[in-house]
Amino acid sequence: NSNNVNSLRVASSASIAALELADIDWDNLRFGLMPTDYMYIMRCSQGEAFSKGQLQRFGNIELSPSAAVLNYGQGLFEGLKAYRKHDGNISLFRPEENGVRLRMGAERMCMPAPTVEQFVEAVKETVLANERWIPPPGKGSLYIRPLLMGSGAVLGLAPAPEYTFLIYVSPVGNYFKEGLAPINLIVETEMHRATPGGTGGVKTIGNYAAVLQAQSAARAKGFSDVLYLDSIDKKYLEEVSSCNIFVVKGNEISTPAIKGTILPGITRKSILDVARSQGFEVAERQVTVNELLEADEVFCTGTAVVVSPVGSITYLNKRVTYGSDGVGRVSQLLYSALTSLQMGLTEDKMGWIVEL
Ligand code: COI
Repeated sequence: NSNNVNSLRVASSASIAALELADIDWDNLRFGLMPTDYMYIMRCSQGEAFSKGQLQRFGNIELSPSAAVLNYGQGLFEGLKAYRKHDGNISLFRPEENGVRLRMGAERMCMPAPTVEQFVEAVKETVLANERWIPPPGKGSLYIRPLLMGSGAVLGLAPAPEYTFLIYVSPVGNYFKEGLAPINLIVETEMHRATPGGTGGVKTIGNYAAVLQAQSAARAKGFSDVLYLDSIDKKYLEEVSSCNIFVVKGNEISTPAIKGTILPGITRKSILDVARSQGFEVAERQVTVNELLEADEVFCTGTAVVVSPVGSITYLNKRVTYGSDGVGRVSQLLYSALTSLQMGLTEDKMGWIVEL
C-alpha cells in the first residue's frame, strides 16, 4: 500500500542524508531504550514462510489481548550490534550467527522463522534507516533487537495462527553501571535459570522474566547480578542472568559447555576462538563452583555486556575477590582483542565483520 512505499522512500532518503548524527548526548550513553526512527516488521501465518517485510516508523504495535506471546510466552529475541568505524563505514558483528540461533529457537518454540538471509537483510535495512543513531566511534554502538513472536490470538494452549518478526534499535553504552570496572556477582543457591530438557538453551523471552526475582534481590543487596548453578548437582556453573561466564586459571580459560541449559552466546563463541588464537588453552566443560572460587580471573561475555571482568564472587556468605580492583590481565587482553576487531581497528582475519 502507499503507506509502505512512503515509509520506504523516507527511509532510503534518510539513509543517504544520514551524515548528520541525532542530537543527543553521545558521551553519556547507558544501556537503555532510546526511541529511534524506524523499525522493521514482517508477518506470516502458521504453516507459511515469511516473505516480505517493511520498515515503518518506530512506535507501539497493536496486539490482540489473547496473542500467544502475551498469554503463553511464545516469543524469542536476539541481540546484536552495529558499529560506526573510524573510516566512517558501518559494520555488523557476525549477524548470520544470530539468524541461525533464532531459527534454532523458533523450532523449539514452534514458530516459523525468517531465513538467515532474510534476517541479515532485515537487520541491514533497519540499521541503515536508523543510521543517524549509530554512535560515533568509541562512544558506544547501535544495539539491534530482533523479536519473533506468536502474535496471533489463541485461547487454548496451542501455537499461534500468526507470527510477527520485528526489529528495533537503540544506541547504547555500557551494560553494567560499573562501566568497564569489575562487577560483583552472587551465586544463587535457591533458584535456577534452566533445567535439562527445558528452554535454557534458546533465547526465549520467558528465560529472562524467570531471573528477575533473583536479580532484583541481588541488586537490592548491592550486587551487580546473579550467577546460576545447575539444577541437578547444584555445583556446576551455568550462566549469569544476561551473559555467559568464564574462569581463568594459569593458561587455561574455561566456560560451561553447551548442553541445553546454557545460552550459546555469540560473544562466548568468539572469545573462545580469540583466546585460542592468542595461545590460551580453551575448554568447554563442566566448571565447578569451587574452581570459580579458586580462579585467577573471572569474566562474563555477552553482546550487551561485551567482556565484563568480575571483581568478586559471593557464595554462601563467603566473598572471594580477584586481583586488586583493576581489570585482570587476561580479561583486559580479550576485551581489547574483541572490541578492536568489532570496531575495525584490527584486521578481521576471522571473517566476522559484515560491512554495510
Ligand atoms: C544480549 O547480550 O544481547 C542479550 O540479549 C542479553 C539481554 C538481557 C540484554
